[in-house]
Amino acid sequence: MQYAAKITGIGSAFPEKRLDNTELSGMLVRQGIDTTNQWIVERTGIRERRIANVQDENETNSSLGARAAQQALTMAGRKAEDIDQIVYATCSPDTLLPSTACWVQKKIGAHNAWAMDVNAACSGFIYGLVTAQQFVQTGQSKTVLVVGGEVLSQITNWNDRTSCILFGDGAGAAIVEPVPTADKRRILCSHLTSNGSLSDLFHVPAGGSNLEVTPEIYAQGLHKMHMNGREIFKVAVRTLTECALKTLEKQSLPIVHLDWLVPHQANLRIIEAVVNRLAFPMERVLINLDRFGNTSAATIPSALDEAVRDGRIQKGQTVLLDAFGAGMTAGALLLRW
Ligand code: ACO
Repeated sequence: MQYAAKITGIGSAFPEKRLDNTELSGMLVRQGIDTTNQWIVERTGIRERRIANVQDENETNSSLGARAAQQALTMAGRKAEDIDQIVYATCSPDTLLPSTACWVQKKIGAHNAWAMDVNAACSGFIYGLVTAQQFVQTGQSKTVLVVGGEVLSQITNWNDRTSCILFGDGAGAAIVEPVPTADKRRILCSHLTSNGSLSDLFHVPAGGSNLEVTPEIYAQGLHKMHMNGREIFKVAVRTLTECALKTLEKQSLPIVHLDWLVPHQANLRIIEAVVNRLAFPMERVLINLDRFGNTSAATIPSALDEAVRDGRIQKGQTVLLDAFGAGMTAGALLLRW
């Protein structure tokens, strides 16, 4: 390892349209699907989410990612031409070909970069950060843009009340750069896992090379997310807790010395169950799902961005990012801000 890797800038962006629970439940009830604001708040903690208008070229996945990237570049004091690598974490890409990373490269003018997507669903931003860290530590990359961006509203099954209440659209971005290995403010360690045997718990059956979206498949909604929420809930609590503990253990950091936990924002009850198991105070857990819902790969960078900008996260503090997602992928990353 020649260098250590550090996040030098962060940013986030959301679509304009707010869809609160009252409006959403009104829409669903009109379709004959029973739900209420009270049920959604009590079972998930979500109050509203943002919905992209993909007809507006400023609200596509890559456009949200580009806006988040510009903020991260400004904080890092870099220009788009300085970026030599782009890692775009998403499971709702603009297009299957080319990658959303290439679309964002075009939008921000990062013409000196090479670009690729990572699909690890909601763990994507952590997978992306760890990927960037490897290239930076070996000296192969100097300024990496990592984006977690999603327009999940396009792959949400709006007829399924157990899942459509959860998801929202948005993007978060970070710039990762080398620092001397002696630098205390850097990415410290991480732990990644996946369990492909649980892939059926959460998947989009059609639209890949297995199943073409014909009118029949479209009518059945097989091109949208299919989810076994109850099972995912249990796996999520277990894997988020394990990943957090394994990562802290690698750094021999007792959890009482951790300043902030940034969990994936899927359901407030999942977060509370994990925090309980970790015996960590809820006041030091970053939450944005009440306002944005589950934005998959964007939840962690957007929550981090908000807390850095409003001054909750201070220089030198330890921060643990902790995510799980379809796959079931999972990962935690410890850093000193
Ligand atoms: N409104 C009213 N009632 C509802 C709704 C709704 N929107 N959705 C489900 N219900 C009903 C169910 O039909 C069930 O009724 P029944 O008892 O008559 O059968 C009842 O509420 C309880 O259902 P449960 O599934 O037990 O509800 P639970 O408390 O587990 O909440 C939820 C469901 C919100 C889906 C929860 O299980 C969850 O959040 N799971 C994790 C989902 C997740 O994180 N997915 C993404 C993971 S990966 C990624 O982030 C990309």
